[in-house]
Amino acid sequence: MRRVARSYLSGNRRVRVLEDLDLDLPAGQRLAIMGRSGSGKTTLLHLAGVMDTPDSGEIRIAGRAVQDLGEPFRTRLRAREIGLVFQDFNLMDSLSVADNIGLPLWLNGIRDSGRVGRLAEQLAVGDLLARYPWQLSGGEKQRVAIARALVHRPRLVLADEPTGALDEETAADVLALLAQATDEAGVAVLVVTHSEQAAGICNRRLLLATGRLQEAPAVAVK
Ligand SMILES: Nc1ncnc2c1ncn2[C@@H]1O[C@H](COP(=O)(O)OP(=O)(O)OP(=O)(O)O)[C@@H](O)[C@H]1O
Ligand SMILES: [Mg+2]
Repeated sequence: MRRVARSYLSGNRRVRVLEDLDLDLPAGQRLAIMGRSGSGKTTLLHLAGVMDTPDSGEIRIAGRAVQDLGEPFRTRLRAREIGLVFQDFNLMDSLSVADNIGLPLWLNGIRDSGRVGRLAEQLAVGDLLARYPWQLSGGEKQRVAIARALVHRPRLVLADEPTGALDEETAADVLALLAQATDEAGVAVLVVTHSEQAAGICNRRLLLATGRLQEAPAVAVK
């Protein structure tokens, strides 16, 4: 990201959330972004996930300037290369757990139902495949959302508070899986988190404050 700005109109007031923000995320890196509530972490993640467009500045993914791509290309880039764990999970209520997890495979025309089952087992939601999202606990939804973000083996994994709904022990298992699944060469990971435990799987951490990223202090802000 180069000189990225994103603001929102709130009534007739413009709220500047990101301003003149630069970010490099090389392939193979796991980056933690921390910062207080409202600092713009989710806004940044949605921009990185091609879910949103900056007011100005440039965002390149794998060399392509994404704001110059037409919507069909943006959609394809999202579906193929990106796995996003939303802060509020964003599961599809009309689809079963199995179909939620398998959605990225379906979108990419990949037939491999074994992958859904294996990943669900690894995230301890293997017994819940026939259920629907409203029949799940918050932590179960979160693990289904993580499975969906990894199932198509994306090159860019974006995770917004991926352990926010999990106890410490479950979080440790999920983070180990996230680390393992992204240890393959070339996968870049951006984790937004308030948790030291989640930042612990990352090899770099940055703090988002006043619209920009800065090197985070060794002991992170809780
Ligand atoms: N659609 C919107 N319209 C207006 N303001 C918005 C919108 N989305 C976010 N904001 C504002 O932008 C700021 C940044 O929001 P964002 O969700 O990116 O914060 P965050 O760092 O993810 O916070 P949290 O840690 O609470 O999840 C907040 O002040 C928020 O109120
Ligand atoms: Mg947020």
